Amino acid sequence: MRRLLSTVLLILPVALGAASADPHGVFDCQDLSLVPMDFSVDYETEVQPIFTGSCANCHVSSPFPDAGLRLDPGKSYFDLVNVPSVQDGTLLRVKPFNASQSVLFSKVNCDGPLVGLRMPLDRSPLTPEAQALILDWINQGALPVPAVPDLLTRADFEARG
Ligand code: HEC
Repeated sequence: MRRLLSTVLLILPVALGAASADPHGVFDCQDLSLVPMDFSVDYETEVQPIFTGSCANCHVSSPFPDAGLRLDPGKSYFDLVNVPSVQDGTLLRVKPFNASQSVLFSKVNCDGPLVGLRMPLDRSPLTPEAQALILDWINQGALPVPAVPDLLTRADFEARG
C-alpha cells in the first residue's frame, strides 16, 4: 500500500507537468496573483480606458467592427455582458461573476485563450494590472457602475476608529 502511494505521488507531478506543457498552450495564462485586488472596479473610469487605448481602433463602431464587437465608449458594455461570443456561440463574451468562463478575459490573459487569438491582436499583451482590472470587474458581477464592496462591514469602519 505504501509503495502504491509513493508511486502515485511520483507520477502525479509528471502528469501535471505534461499538462502544463500542452502544445496548444491551453494552460498558458499569465499569473495575476501578485496584482493587488481592486474591490470596487468602476467600468467607465477604469475598464473602458483600457479598451479605448488598446482595442477600439479595431473594435470600433462601424458597419464591420472586428468580430462584430464594439469596444468604444458608450457601446462596449452592451456588446460584452451576457452577449454570446461570435467565435463560440456556447460561451459568453462576459459571464458575470465568472472570468474564467468569459471569452473577454481569456483572450487578454492567455496565449491559448478559450477561442481565437490573444488580444490585443498584433500588440504586446495588456499589463498585468489592466488584465487584473478586467478580472476583478467580471468577478464582481460585471456591473456598469462600481460594485459596493461587501467585504467591509460597519464593524470594520468602527474598528478603524
Ligand atoms: C489589430 C486589430 C485588433 C485589436 C487591436 C484588438 N482586436 Fe480583438 N479581435 C480582432 C479580430 C480580427 C478578432 C477575431 C479573430 C480572433 O478572435 O481570433 C477579434 C476578436 C476579439 C474577441 C472575440 C469576440 C467574440 O465574440 O468571440 C474579443 C473578446 C476581443 N477581440 C477583445 C479585444 C480586446 C479586449 C482588445 C484590446 C485589449 C482587442 N480585442 C484588440 C482584432 C483586434
